[in-house]
Amino acid sequence: MTPSRWLAVSLGLALAGAACGDDVPTAADPPPATSGEFIAFERDFAGFQGWRKVDLGVSDGLSGHTPGGRVAYVSASLPAGTRVAPRGGIIVHVTGIDTETRRVFAMAKRGGDYNAAGARGWEWFELDDSSDPPRIVWRGLGPPNGESYAGSTECNTCHSAAASDDYVLGPELR
Ligand code: HEC
Repeated sequence: MTPSRWLAVSLGLALAGAACGDDVPTAADPPPATSGEFIAFERDFAGFQGWRKVDLGVSDGLSGHTPGGRVAYVSASLPAGTRVAPRGGIIVHVTGIDTETRRVFAMAKRGGDYNAAGARGWEWFELDDSSDPPRIVWRGLGPPNGESYAGSTECNTCHSAAASDDYVLGPELR
């Protein structure tokens, strides 16, 4: 192999590795950004258990929530009293604590026109927090087909009810 060809091949491999960490595209691959948007990577959720912690009590499951305990972790860019999340703000929502249906969701403020028909500016996530940084299970405008949160309700459907609070539903989190 000529040196220039070797360079091209190794650069290609390095770029492929940097893009997604493995060769198989998954639902967790970040979508392309339009300029100026915040794209959260797994490292941006690292150590979220140390962020401002807000106890949301225990849900009985009757209101459409997953039954069990709920806790939110709010990133430093969203101090208590923040009315409109700045770009880069992240809220992690741990649901079903101490149940078999424990799941970890999150919302990150991408900004711009992202998700303009739903929770404007916010991107939705499910995380797997069995490692640190957590693994992004999926990301985007909502769960991939076949996944759901509360029946067939979309993330945007419930959260749009809080449009005047920047789509943050938990009163304790505003
Ligand atoms: C059935 C209605 C409903 C659906 C569907 C729903 N949520 Fe929520 N979500 C809530 C409520 C209500 C809260 C307020 C906190 C609480 O009660 O636990 C909340 C809170 C959150 C929070 C913490 C910030 C906040 O708004 O208080 C995040 C993050 C979150 N949800 C992510 C998601 C994601 C991701 C999806 C889609 C997979 C989703 N939610 C779908 C009702 C819903």
